[in-house]
Amino acid sequence: MSEYNRKDHLYQKAKDEGYRSRAAYKLIEIQDAYKIIKNGDRVLDVGAWPGGWTQVALQFVGGSGNVTAIDLQPLDPIDDSRCSLIAGDARDLDDILGLKEPSFDVVISDMSAKLTGIKEADQAAAVGCAELALYVAQQMLKNGGNFAVKVFKGGDVEGFVKSTRPMFNKLVRSELKSSRNTSNEFYIIGLGFKR
Ligand SMILES: C[S@@+](CC[C@H](N)C(=O)[O-])C[C@H]1O[C@@H](n2cnc3c(N)ncnc32)[C@H](O)[C@@H]1O
Repeated sequence: MSEYNRKDHLYQKAKDEGYRSRAAYKLIEIQDAYKIIKNGDRVLDVGAWPGGWTQVALQFVGGSGNVTAIDLQPLDPIDDSRCSLIAGDARDLDDILGLKEPSFDVVISDMSAKLTGIKEADQAAAVGCAELALYVAQQMLKNGGNFAVKVFKGGDVEGFVKSTRPMFNKLVRSELKSSRNTSNEFYIIGLGFKR
């Protein structure tokens, strides 16, 4: 990717507005369109580093909500008592959190694997990340909760969408204006989890 593309206007805007990543604007766009996070919600941010989505989620949960963020890569501290940061693998969240019952109102996942350059392997890894996020949502989401997950075109993404659809009252696919125009990512938004 060229330097010109990497540092586009949202990259600069994120720097100017104090967001840790340009990805912050993707969650803002999702929130503007679907209102997935409400005041007082408990939000689980999966694949959170460097923390742009975590910052945005904190803005929407209000004083009584909170955000738990996990990534393989440790996030720099966020000075906010409503926020818990976990360095770890989302596969182990069950053990890490040790919750007795589903406790989150919203699960958001911008998780992605490191690219290898081998198309088939990268597509399989991308669907694997989405499936892991869905697995986490199935463990952690309260009845009626909301879900947003990044997916990429190609591979068995249509199979993923098809199997996810019945789990929510409403499922939408959303291509975001704030995604880079070179990206083939889109987001699946599940509203009203049916536990
Ligand atoms: C595109 S970044 C997330 C950007 C973030 N949403 C933001 O706004 O700053 C994707 C992240 O997914 C993380 N990730 C990939 N697989 C993971 C896993 N199994 N468990 C936890 N995090 C994972 C990567 O370490 C990477 O930091």
